[in-house]
Amino acid sequence: MTNILCIGAGYVGGSTMPILASHCPEDRFVVVDINEARIAAWQSDQLPIYEPGLEEIVRQTRGKNLFFSTEINRHIAEAEIIFVSVNTPTKTFGHGAGRAADLQYWEKTARQILENSTSSKIVVEKSTLPVRTAEAMERILNSNGNGLHFDVLSNPEFLAEGTAVSDMQSPSRVLIGGRETESGRMAVGKLVDLYARWVPLERIITTNLWSSELSKLVANAFLAQRISSINSISALCEKTEADISEVANAIGLDQRIGRRFLQASVGFGGSCFKKDILNLVYLCEHYGLPEVARYWEQVVLMNEYQEARFAANMVASMFNTVAGKRIALFGVAFKANTSDTRESPALAVCRALLDERADIVITDPYALENACQDLKDLEGRITYEIDPYAASSNAHAIAILTEWSQYAQLDYQRIHQSMVKPAFLFDGRNLLDHQKLYQLGFNVYPIGKPPLTRLVNHGLTPA
Ligand SMILES: NC(=O)c1ccc[n+]([C@@H]2O[C@H](COP(=O)([O-])OP(=O)(O)OC[C@H]3O[C@@H](n4cnc5c(N)ncnc54)[C@H](O)[C@@H]3O)[C@@H](O)[C@H]2O)c1
Repeated sequence: MTNILCIGAGYVGGSTMPILASHCPEDRFVVVDINEARIAAWQSDQLPIYEPGLEEIVRQTRGKNLFFSTEINRHIAEAEIIFVSVNTPTKTFGHGAGRAADLQYWEKTARQILENSTSSKIVVEKSTLPVRTAEAMERILNSNGNGLHFDVLSNPEFLAEGTAVSDMQSPSRVLIGGRETESGRMAVGKLVDLYARWVPLERIITTNLWSSELSKLVANAFLAQRISSINSISALCEKTEADISEVANAIGLDQRIGRRFLQASVGFGGSCFKKDILNLVYLCEHYGLPEVARYWEQVVLMNEYQEARFAANMVASMFNTVAGKRIALFGVAFKANTSDTRESPALAVCRALLDERADIVITDPYALENACQDLKDLEGRITYEIDPYAASSNAHAIAILTEWSQYAQLDYQRIHQSMVKPAFLFDGRNLLDHQKLYQLGFNVYPIGKPPLTRLVNHGLTPA
């Protein structure tokens, strides 16, 4: 039996460890966090995150070989392998503010591991970190005077929220970076053995530490770049009456481009893309590569432009004023099948419309609680409503901001009847049947396609 600890019971720690535990029944997994409420939720029937399929796996493993706890020090002492999946947000202060990763939680964890260790351990970076962080980690950990040895590995997490369980059950790859020393190789071998219980060996890639750390940042930069690329073209489509779905299909059939991740939208969100690209930008600047930094920064700027453009288009289409008009935002999660709202484009659109003094009502099947937290500075100015029919009643407009499949199943005739006319529908995810909505009487504004409206001078996106 191996004692395995994970520090950080967030989206990553909380969704990966139950799956590891389910495949390694003879090992013991403990997930710890400083956040007592979060740990209590992991111990309850109401898990702190919504992730399809996760609840069942937690139920099967919890109390058998998976435990959640706040007793961090004790469990550090007992563990042989420690995964660290604490948050690594963008720095908001000092040198590198707004770009560099804030490594304070990370460093505290390293020191805590050192203080509470009485035996040598393998420490695994699961958080996304700037390249060469493992070097600092090794320095802190191996600064002990009592002969303990720590092997630091990088094992970045590639799961996507909303499909975390299937991503973990059948990963495209598991990446493990380690030192090319004898002890480094042994540590890598131990981690490979753990994953090999269910992941085919050809999908477990081992590299040097720096390649592994950097690959995670680059993977997210490339994914976000595809979204910003197609979104940039959606703006041009709106000016030229080309149709972004037709363009995406036409280019995606070229296998060198590929079909996936070519869905134009109001923008990307999530806790990782923006922060990881900014981290990459900072690293490029740090290493004297300003041209490379600017190239990647543009991916983030394009995303901000797309969010702002969407909100501006709403205002322009609704006769240049939304002041006092009720607008229903359908979805606030940053994508479907998650309760996560971090960096959600819906939040940016909501704030932009509130600046125009719109009367905002937000509906979402799972993310209202998180949205309420994110927007608490605007308390009293936003209504939260779980029922989309109630949310859209008396509204001038609906904006689809999350691609929840249930939004495609609603009775839009009923919704249209309850709305103020002319009724507007802005589909920020190109989720709905626009022609059908138009026939029901809506004025429909998709992303990257000509609007379907009976209003004169609807035009294309205003200059
Ligand atoms: N969310 C994702 O989809 C995703 C995917 C891949 C990688 N990552 C990376 O994984 C890391 C974690 O992301 P997340 O989304 O799980 O973050 P999160 O904020 O949901 O969870 C992090 C948890 O760490 C805890 N924590 C912070 N400091 C601690 C300490 N000293 N001791 C114990 N617990 C501590 C926090 O209380 C929090 O519960 C980040 O680096 C992120 O970039 C995230």
